Amino acid sequence: MSLKHSTHDAADVVAALAVAGFSEAEVAAMDAALAAALQGPRGANPLVGAVVIAADGTRLATGYHRGAGTAHAEADAIDQAKAAGHGLSGATMVVTLEPCNHCGRTGPCAQAIIEAGISDVVYAIDDPHDPAAGGAATLRAAGVRVRSGLGALAALELNRRWFDAVAAQRPFVTLHIAQTLDSRIAASDGTSQWISSPESLADNHALRGRIDAILVGTQTVLVDNPRLTARGADGAPAGRQPLRVVMGYRGIPEGAAINGDDGKVLHLPTRDPREALDELFAAGVRHLMVEGGSRILSAFLAAGLVDELIVYLAPTLLGSGTPALEDLGITTLAGAQQWEWDPASGGAVRPLGRDLRLHLRPVQTEPAQTEPAPPEPAPTEHVQTRPALTDRPPTPPAAAVNTSSDSTPLRTVADPASGGN
Ligand SMILES: NC(=O)c1ccc[n+]([C@@H]2O[C@H](COP(=O)([O-])OP(=O)(O)OC[C@H]3O[C@@H](n4cnc5c(N)ncnc54)[C@H](OP(=O)(O)O)[C@@H]3O)[C@@H](O)[C@H]2O)c1
Repeated sequence: MSLKHSTHDAADVVAALAVAGFSEAEVAAMDAALAAALQGPRGANPLVGAVVIAADGTRLATGYHRGAGTAHAEADAIDQAKAAGHGLSGATMVVTLEPCNHCGRTGPCAQAIIEAGISDVVYAIDDPHDPAAGGAATLRAAGVRVRSGLGALAALELNRRWFDAVAAQRPFVTLHIAQTLDSRIAASDGTSQWISSPESLADNHALRGRIDAILVGTQTVLVDNPRLTARGADGAPAGRQPLRVVMGYRGIPEGAAINGDDGKVLHLPTRDPREALDELFAAGVRHLMVEGGSRILSAFLAAGLVDELIVYLAPTLLGSGTPALEDLGITTLAGAQQWEWDPASGGAVRPLGRDLRLHLRPVQTEPAQTEPAPPEPAPTEHVQTRPALTDRPPTPPAAAVNTSSDSTPLRTVADPASGGN
């Protein structure tokens, strides 16, 4: 089969190869697992979906991961199957990421699968963490038949920016903007509370309760004096609070509200977003929300360090005031940053009270390709056609794709502490 037509064709070929060796029911289950994964929130952990099917292909349960600290997709699917009264002996678990093997905030999925009596596991791609953390080997050692590679390209695409963050050893970065219709985040007198609807504020506070850290610039601390805590609609603090981070050279005033009384505040005397991320990663932060103001938002965007964008768009006009963004160093339309609507985590566009919540992620940018050198003249009888560089399927960003069945998974190494499935 020729690979020389287009990237699309090449991806189709890889996808076709990845389907070979799997039953129709397994292929359909993987599609359902990928769709289920989208219901989870982006953040410290990847989006993962899982479907359990019986030996005859009947779908028994569908699960997905609802974020750090909650049941993993496999455990969710097993629980649901059991709650529905299904026996799992001889069943197949179809999951978008290799089952984990470690005890984080939840138990290891490999063990849960073994204990449930599941005899077959089909997963799309390897867990990109420490090889010792992978569950495939544990499953095989327990006599479970394990195959991988089904839906691999879609599974990589699903969590593309999460894999990038893991490979770069930095937190996954969510950028938050609460803005007017004309892209203002504060009026010209500095007032900004509240541009957003109560529903948007509640959504933001729910997110604050899930992230590891929230970051603002020194100017926002000086102007707004925010608390940056996660609070319920009644103002009561949520059970889980993020680390509050201030970025910039100037110090935090002693009486600033952000200091709180729990010691969970960190001042990073830097203007370099990557340096800030390095420090936060070293401090154990795996999901960071950048909340503003405009100079900080722009600095992270200009550095290409934003994995997810959440915009609360209020039907309000100011005409003047602080713009949401400053100069990103873009001078021509061809250089514009391209974003795409992200259907995960509550959808791409959602009404929240009178606001719209917009959810986006960066469009994948291919690394610049250099023109391949002209081929050496070859004898005409032995001319070999090679696919052009641009015809190759996308290179997996961090995790490796293994399209073969029953083989040892390929891996890349990253920090075992950052969660995984
Ligand atoms: N609606 C919203 O969602 C929202 C959210 C937050 C804030 N706001 C509003 O945003 C306004 C503040 O925005 P702002 O842009 O003036 O301030 P900002 O982004 O909060 O802070 C800017 C300050 O951060 C420091 N800094 C750190 N890294 C930097 C970098 N790479 N580039 C530039 N500065 C860096 C600098 O202070 P040093 O001199 O200390 O280094 C700079 O003066 C306020 O009116 C606030 O109400 C709105």
